[in-house]
Amino acid sequence: MVQLNTPNYQSFTYGDAFADVYDDWYTRIAEVSNVEGTVALISNLSEGLDVLELGVGTGRLALPIAAMGIPTTGVDSSSEMLKRLTARDTSGLVTTHLADMASWLPAGPFKVIFCAYNTFFNLVDPDDQEKCLQLVRDRLTPDGLFILEAFVPSNYPLLPTRGVESRHMTDATVLNITIREPSTGLIRGQSIEIKETGVTLRPWRILIKAPDELDQVAARRGLKLVNRWQDWHQSPFTSSSDHHVSVYAPITV
Ligand SMILES: C[S@@+](CC[C@H](N)C(=O)[O-])C[C@H]1O[C@@H](n2cnc3c(N)ncnc32)[C@H](O)[C@@H]1O
Repeated sequence: MVQLNTPNYQSFTYGDAFADVYDDWYTRIAEVSNVEGTVALISNLSEGLDVLELGVGTGRLALPIAAMGIPTTGVDSSSEMLKRLTARDTSGLVTTHLADMASWLPAGPFKVIFCAYNTFFNLVDPDDQEKCLQLVRDRLTPDGLFILEAFVPSNYPLLPTRGVESRHMTDATVLNITIREPSTGLIRGQSIEIKETGVTLRPWRILIKAPDELDQVAARRGLKLVNRWQDWHQSPFTSSSDHHVSVYAPITV
């Protein structure tokens, strides 16, 4: 039986389930989440000072940032993801911590903390999103910046509540089944990989928020929006943008 209300879904469930295919399946991320643009903007805003990535994964972004000589730290709740980062990081450039970003972040302080590619939505409890932004606020330098990249769930109360997508690859077909709870914005998904050798289930969940909702959570946690672009190239954000790169700074009293 395929379950969408995966019992015991934990902060590491998504990462552990997808780590073995993440780098292969998500190479097309480059289309929307440009590595070069991300690295250039983060490096520019950090002025070469300490950077922390939340949900660092296999190091897609942290490794090229660290390779520029920027002290780079990454937190991830999945040991399977971090194992792959460590294997790629042959020079030991990125400092990693296995932790739930809603519960613990390294002391820092950091000039830039960032959370890319919808990773913030992996916090599927609204309280965890609040707790994470409080930790971010506490770990930034007074002139530090928090950068969050996510899609815009425009008009998302109108999105279909159920969906099935299929993807065909050389040796596998992948069905992605989603169920959205309109009242909360929680989306529960199950990726079903079908191969000649068998079937692999990979559960995932996200709690989506519109940009203005994110701004409200940030403001409650002492962070104010200072810039919002449509992408890492700093293209203007407009009402038709389906993606945003938002920059927050600590509110000082
Ligand atoms: C979509 S991947 C992004 C990985 C990487 N940032 C990138 O852009 O390629 C999300 C990552 O966030 C991690 N993650 C999910 N929930 C987390 C949590 N509560 N605390 C820390 N990391 C988490 C997952 O294990 C996964 O590695």
